Order: sequence, then C-alpha cells, then structure tokens
Amino acid sequence: MSSAPLASGAEGPDALRPLLNTVLDALGTGRQARGGPFPAGGPDAVASRLRDAVGDVLPEDGDPTALRTLVHALAEGAADPADPLCAAHLHCPPLAVSAAADLAVSALNPSLDSWDQAPAASALEALVTRTLAHEIGLADALVTTGGTEANQLALLLAREAHSGTVQLVCGSNAHHSLPRAAWLLGLPDPVVVPAPAGTLDPAALDEALTALPGPRGSVLVAATAGTTDAGLIDPLPEIAGLCAAHGARLHIDAAYGGGLVFSDRHRDKLAGLDRAHTVTLDLHKLGWQPVAAGLLAVRHPRDLAALTQRADYLNADDDTEAGLPDLLGRSMRTTRRPDVLKLAVTLKTLGRTGLGTLVDQVCARAREFAAMVHNHPGFELYDPPVISTVLFRPAEATDEAVAAVRRQLLHDGRAVLGRAALDGRLWLKATLLNPHTRPDDLAALLKLVEGHTPR
Ligand SMILES: Cc1ncc(COP(=O)(O)O)c(C=O)c1O
Repeated sequence: MSSAPLASGAEGPDALRPLLNTVLDALGTGRQARGGPFPAGGPDAVASRLRDAVGDVLPEDGDPTALRTLVHALAEGAADPADPLCAAHLHCPPLAVSAAADLAVSALNPSLDSWDQAPAASALEALVTRTLAHEIGLADALVTTGGTEANQLALLLAREAHSGTVQLVCGSNAHHSLPRAAWLLGLPDPVVVPAPAGTLDPAALDEALTALPGPRGSVLVAATAGTTDAGLIDPLPEIAGLCAAHGARLHIDAAYGGGLVFSDRHRDKLAGLDRAHTVTLDLHKLGWQPVAAGLLAVRHPRDLAALTQRADYLNADDDTEAGLPDLLGRSMRTTRRPDVLKLAVTLKTLGRTGLGTLVDQVCARAREFAAMVHNHPGFELYDPPVISTVLFRPAEATDEAVAAVRRQLLHDGRAVLGRAALDGRLWLKATLLNPHTRPDDLAALLKLVEGHTPR
C-alpha cells in the first residue's frame, strides 16, 4: 500500500478502518487526560500543552503517529459539549450517527457547485432542503454554514427583492450577525427596536415602522425565535401582522428555536414562522449536528433567482439546456461539501418522533434546572425557560463576582457556563442541549457555582 492511501476508491475503506480505530482510541485517551468538561489551567497552559504535543508542525520527514498525537491533543484540550457540565453556548453534542455520516462526506468529497461533482449529493440536497422547508410551512431552503450565513443571505435576498436596498429593522435582542450583514451588504444602519423584556416589543415595532420614511416594501423586519442570550421567542404572530399591515418583509432568525418544530409538545411556540419570507434554521444548535448545519428557508423560490450565476466550467448554458442541474445559484459559496448528508441520516434514523424526544428532553432538563435554582435561597432565576436556556445568578452577588465565578470554573476545567447581560445585570447562562444530562448533573453544576462564588 502507498504511504499516502486515499479515503475513497477501492482501497479507501481498508485504508480508513485502522485509522478510524486510531481516531477513536485517541478521542478516548484525550478525553481521559482532560478528565472533565474543559481543559484546566487557562489559555497559556492549554496552548503550551498543545505546542508540546504537536512539536514540529511541518517536519522534514513525516511522522506516522501524527494522527494519534493530534487527535489526542485536540480531545485533551477540547470543550466537550457531551459533558453535562459543558453548557455555555448553543454548542451541541453531535449525534454519533451524524458524525459517522459526515465521515462518508469527507471520504467521497462531493462538491455541490456542479452536478458532475455531486450527482447523488445534489439530488439528496434538493430532497432534504424541501422537506425541511415544508416542515416549517415554506417552499425551499438553501444550506449554509450556520445562522450567520443564513442571516446574511436573508438580507441579500431582501435587498435584491427591493431593487438594491432595504432598511433592516430588528430588536435589540437580535443576533449580532444581522446588523453585521447590513454593514457587509452596504445597507443603511439598522433601526433597532427596544426589547425590554428580552423580546421585541410589538408596540415599539409598530412605532418604528410608522416613523420610517421611504416607499412601502423596502423594509425588512427581523424577528428572533430563540434569542442567543435567553432562548426567548419574539411574539411572531403579532410581528407578522404588523409586517403585513406596514408592507414590510419578514425574516425570522430561528437558528436556535427552529428545532422545536420536531416536538409535538413545543411546536406551537413557533406559530407564525410560516408567515415569514425567510427563516434561518441551524441544526448545529437544537439539532445535534456537527458544525456546519445551517439553512435559510424561503417562502418564494423566485427570490432565489437573485443568486443566479454563470461560470462556464460549472454550469454552461448548453449543459443546463441539456438537463444538467444548475447548482451554482444555491449558495454564495463555490466548492461546498454536502452537509446535507448528516442531516438526512439524522432525520431518517430518528424520525420526527426521535428528534422530538430529544427536544422534549433538553427542554424538560431546563425546566428542572430552573426549578432547582428557584428553590435554592442562594440563587436568583431570571425567568422560567422557554426553550432550554436558564439564566441565573448567585443572590446578592455583584456583576464582577458573577463574571469571576464563570472564569474560575473555566480556569479549573470544572464547568463551562455562559454569560448574558440582561435587565442591567450580569447572569450566568446554562444552555442545555445535551439530552443525556440528568437532574443529578444539574444539581452538581449548581453546587459547583455555589462553591466558586467569591464572598
Ligand atoms: C439567534 C442566533 N442567530 C444566529 C446565530 C449565528 O449562528 P452561527 O454561529 O451558526 O453562524 C446564533 C449563534 O448563536 C444565534 O444564537
């Protein structure tokens, strides 16, 4: 066998099998060496351990143990979202079946910029994107690298639908990628509407839309279904009604909350989603996918015409006329891996019921954790959770003390919590996305925070 075997082709599987064993072993030894949810010692210690493990990045002669060494080092220094005490961000533990599917993508390496590089993958993408779009009442969807790219595309499509410019109106609770996309696309600064209780205030939105000069129809309102800080859902039906009344276009950033659609118990929280022109979904948040797994769903497939692009080597007119699918207009990227395979495998393996159960589990854990916080005299709860985010703080602690607890837990590698500034105060944030977390783990988390709070 050659010293650099290929991942696909006749010998691919036999070449990969022992390497996979090495990877799986090193993931295990690395995790053991870490011994908790997060590597201890702070940034300098982690970087120094990594440098020592890696040694010479580009040695003159190759090192056949590099795979084991580097995977071990990465795992040892990882923030592990599969550890119940790693709960800071919208950073989910991926499903094993989804990660396994992703390996097939790496081995086959289809690229979705032209049909001749991805015949079956492009057909699968068409099937899955439509299925997911229909699930939320829209027509089609594009695959993106995440919520940020989906939000950018939403603004781009709105701009193009309105002859070159659009005024973004969003809540102060909107994800930073929305104002950033306005900047990137050369649009006016967004009109930012107050969100005093963490969600967009419809009366303030009505006022802002009434006050806007310019022709009807050149405004894009962006609402959020699952805010980054608190997991709250804007009043979508009311916002959709206001958009209709003012002739504004509606985008809903459901990067976090979109996953609720799989749950019979929680789906109703997304009422109004189907009234949007575009919706951001992101199944590397509430969807248990390895990064990247974003989507932008659209109500009118005609909006996608704005992305039409010709490049003779990829979609020559005569090839398209002869029936070869034209893929270039389904992304702003050119070379593009089929992230859709892991999504398809997940949807089909678990079904709506299996995914809905995972959603229900993390939402239930959040409610239980919130109850623990509420019943503990040493803690204050921000609000009962709507999805799976719980904001809490040690009672009577200063903001400095709250920030210090978080950093101390990180430094010790004991727990990974996020932070959110709301109501003029700093809160600790637990974003619960691990369906295997047990109530005992959450009790342990609270105890750790209690033990680390400076007095
Ligand atoms: C509401 C919301 N929208 C968009 C994003 C951006 O998603 P990504 O990080 O996948 O680009 C996030 C990230 O947390 C988010 O919370």
